[in-house]
This record gives sequence, C-alpha cells and structure tokens, in this order.
Amino acid sequence: MTESGNVLPGAIIKKIEAEVGKYPTRRAAVKSALRYAQAEFGWISEDVVKAVAEVLDLERIEVFEVATFYDMFYTRPVGRFPVRVCTNVSCLLRGADGIMNSLCQRLGVEAGETTADGRFTVFPAECLGACGGAPMMAVGDDYHEDLEADGLDEILERYR
Ligand code: FES
Repeated sequence: MTESGNVLPGAIIKKIEAEVGKYPTRRAAVKSALRYAQAEFGWISEDVVKAVAEVLDLERIEVFEVATFYDMFYTRPVGRFPVRVCTNVSCLLRGADGIMNSLCQRLGVEAGETTADGRFTVFPAECLGACGGAPMMAVGDDYHEDLEADGLDEILERYR
C-alpha cells in the first residue's frame, strides 16, 4: 500500500500513468489500468476499483462499470488459472458444450466454480477471437485451440 493508502504498488501506478499518455482522456485508460491491477492481484476487489479511480481521477462507478462489463475482469477471487471456455457460435457449432461439460467433470466443478485446490476457475466466455481454432479455451493468457475432450487432461497437466 502506498503512503496515500492506495493499494496499487508504485510500479503499477507508473504503468497506468504511462498508459494515460496514450489516450485523449484519463477515462480511456481504465481498461489498461484494470489489466495491470488484475495481473498484480489476480482479481479486481473494491479496494482496487477505488485505487484505480484515484489514480485516474474518476468516480469509482466509472471504473466499476468497466470491470463488470468485460468478462476478462474478475470481480471476485478466482483460481490461479482462470479457464475461459468460448461458448460463442463457432465454438458452439464445433462442440464447445461437450468441452465445457468434460472440463467441469474432470475438475469436479460447475461453470463459475473454483477447484478445491484453488488452481482453476472455469468460466464460459464470449468469442475470444480465435474462431478458426474452434472449439477453444484460454487458460490464463494461453490459448488452446481445436480442443478435443480426450486432450483436456494433457493441457490441464501443464498447469499443475
Ligand atoms: Fe469461439 Fe470465436 S466463437 S473463439
């Protein structure tokens, strides 16, 4: 926590200020700021929303709106590796439902839940921009495409 009580480390505040310079308004840097904050803390807590709002000189609600609009931001604690299974049209047509079911079964969770060991949280996701590799999922920042249920264990094993 900084001297001013802001939970963001100084290095993150510096990165956010650098982002601000790329945009015509401070508000336009909210998404970048939240990405940096989430990379630091793993999720976007109320304290983080407050801190980002302070750094960008915005109302908390302006930051909260962005944090809750995009499904890449987590407003509650998640596992060390968030797993986002695309369930949009291309992936759905290529078996995303089966991938999601198989994944949840393997991990012993329902969509939206975190595994008992805190390693994975599984989410359905809107199109992640890799439709050519449908069905696909993202584990953290890693994309895994052309998924088959039989190959899921091998992928998950890489994150243990
Ligand atoms: Fe799944 Fe686009 S529909 S990545």
